[in-house]
This record gives sequence, C-alpha cells and structure tokens, in this order.
Amino acid sequence: MKDKFLLRPDINYLNHGSFGACPIPVFEEYQRFQRMLETEPLQFMTKTGVEYLDQSKQALADYINCEKEDLIYVTNPSTAMNIVIKNLHLKQGDEVLTTNHEYGAMDRTWRYYCQKSGAKYVQQKISTPLESREQFLEEFWSGLTDKTKVVFLSHITSPTALIFPVDEVCKRAKELGLITIVDGAHAPGHIPLDLNILDVDFYTGACHKWMCSPKGSSFLYADKSVQDMLDPLIISWGYESDNPSESQFQDYHQYQGTRDFSAFLTTPACIKFFKENNWEEEKAKCRAQLKHFYPLVAKELNSTTICQLTDEFLGQICSIPVKTTRPVELKELLYNKYKIEIPVFNNVGPVIYLRISFQPYSSEVDYIDLITALRDIKSTTTLIQ
Ligand SMILES: Cc1ncc(COP(=O)(O)O)c(C=O)c1O
Repeated sequence: MKDKFLLRPDINYLNHGSFGACPIPVFEEYQRFQRMLETEPLQFMTKTGVEYLDQSKQALADYINCEKEDLIYVTNPSTAMNIVIKNLHLKQGDEVLTTNHEYGAMDRTWRYYCQKSGAKYVQQKISTPLESREQFLEEFWSGLTDKTKVVFLSHITSPTALIFPVDEVCKRAKELGLITIVDGAHAPGHIPLDLNILDVDFYTGACHKWMCSPKGSSFLYADKSVQDMLDPLIISWGYESDNPSESQFQDYHQYQGTRDFSAFLTTPACIKFFKENNWEEEKAKCRAQLKHFYPLVAKELNSTTICQLTDEFLGQICSIPVKTTRPVELKELLYNKYKIEIPVFNNVGPVIYLRISFQPYSSEVDYIDLITALRDIKSTTTLIQ
C-alpha cells in the first residue's frame, strides 16, 4: 500500500494523525485541477471550478450524511472554529463547557474570545483510563452550571486519541438548550460519521487527515437553524452579493476572494481511492493491529493504555503516557536514528504522550520496529524512565 502514497519509503511514518498523507492518484487529481486553474483562470474561478466545487460538496455531504447546502469547505478546522466562536458573541459570565483533552489551537481560540468577553472556558477533567461512556458523561456534565451556554468537544481527541461520546453529549445539550460544537478534525474517513443522526449545531472535520486529501481541505457543517447567526470571518464578494444564491450561509462563507481551492475539489477522488482499495477492510485490519500493538508498546514504555480496547473509544490512533523529561529529544532521536516519524506531545499539561497512527500504508513490521527502537532507547539512553 505504501507505494500508492507519496511518502518516503525509508521513513516509518506513524503520524498520519497530524497532517494525513495523500495517495498518488488523489494528488494527481489535485494537480490536474491546479493546471486547469492556470490554463483558464477566469473560466475556472467563475464557472468550471465552481461546478467542481459543487460536485465535491455533494460527494462529501453523501459521505458524512448531510445536505450539501449545510457544508462549506474551509482550509482547516481552525478557520471553521474561528467562524463559529467569533459569532457566538459570548458575554461576561457565559460559560463554555469542554474537556481537558482539546486541541491546542482550539483552546487558544476559546481563550482569546473568552478573555475578550469575560466568558469562562470550563475544561472539565476527563480522567484516564477511560473505562466507560458513563464515566465520561458523569465527569463532563459535572461542569454544567446555569451559566453554561455552549458545549464544545472533540470527536477524537488530539493528544490522547480517544473517541468521545459526542452523540450522547449533543443529545443532552440539545435538551438543555445549549449550543453544540464538535471538533471532528480526525473523524471523517476514520470512524463512521453521520451528521444527520448526530444532531449537532456546528461540526468541523478535516479532509486532509483520514480522508487523505491534499493539505488544506476541511469543512464546517452548520445546522440550518443556526446558519444565520454566522457573519463571514472574511468579508468579500459573498457579503451583499450581487448575485445571491438561495443560501446566505454559502454566499457568506464559501467565497473569500481569490484563492486556490483545488484541494477542496478532490473529495470525489479520495472516495474513489477508498473504493478501489477496499479501504473499509484495510481500516478494520488497522483497528485490529492497534488493539494488538497498543498494550505491547505501552508495556515496552513501562506504561499503560488509557482506555478500554474497544471500537467505542479507539479508531486508528492511540496514545501512551511516556515517562520522560526530554520529549523533544526523544522525538528527534526516533526520527533521526530510527527513521520513525511519530509525535511525542509535550504541550498538553503534565502528561507526555506518544501517539501511534495505524494506517494501511504501515505494516506489522513497522510497529515491531517501533517497539525495538523503544527498547534500544531504554537500554542505551536515559530518555525513558
Ligand atoms: C482535535 C483536532 N482539531 C483540529 C486539528 C487541526 O486543526 P488545524 O489544522 O486548524 O490546526 C487537529 C489536528 O491534529 C486535531 O487533532
């Protein structure tokens, strides 16, 4: 499978989670769009490209089960979240209920808008090991107060790689009349995603992670009932449009002046690649490999797994707490000496995590090589306690 990707063959790439990796046929499709753009800039920007965009939005909408009118493509989840958070117009005393497992860029965005408005960002501690949904829900909802206005959480967390029960959180939040926002950066192409069933107000996902598109393709979904509260982050031709469509949401947010939106157009190519390569079966193999290797790597690190080893909490990534005082050095050594690209997160509170991605271009040998490298590091350095 690895030769279907552009990844360097000599690097054991165990960090699909950060920026994904793009298969060659999808990348070629991307470049085909870019050539079309440069061949006929005006036609592409105003007509043909817009038609491709519409087709790509339909393909994505079918894939995650929503209406294409409720989706806009954005470059990254940060953009999506900034559109939403800015428009919440938080007020002094409002509370945003979230967890202590959220992605750093989102934490920063929330802190920025909370500091400006006097609202409070309430990061409920979700303890590990995560044993059950009930445990999660109890810990999460114990942060609820009569000031809570918004709930925000990841579908799959970045540092800890855990699947959170967003369906149950959204259900209860709706009953309580709260705004629901899910950061699903890791979800599309990774775990089953059905936005129609989820019943969430705002959801962002990255296509360039587990859907394997080229970099710079993500989306913001907004339920019809909340679309009108969103002013554009970038005011451009779509505002007071000379030629308005039926959807203000599309007009306001999809057009942002001149830009190369070729990456947005590749969703159909990603889905085609998945079909042609039995991706569902391949992913099932990855999940099985994860369940086998996760405890083995944890043991090698004198550490533990941080949740039940079930599909309820785990997809194709897992994280292990590492006892090290030199995380940057550990990451660099893994790459420079052992040619293993793997993240060692040191910016998420007191615990340092090694996160392993399982993607079909990796094989058992790669995970065994990781264990061998960690063993070697333990016996030849003091990097791991
Ligand atoms: C939970 C989560 N949200 C968002 C992102 C990515 O957001 P951005 O590309 O805007 O930095 C990631 C990437 O790792 C993530 O794990």
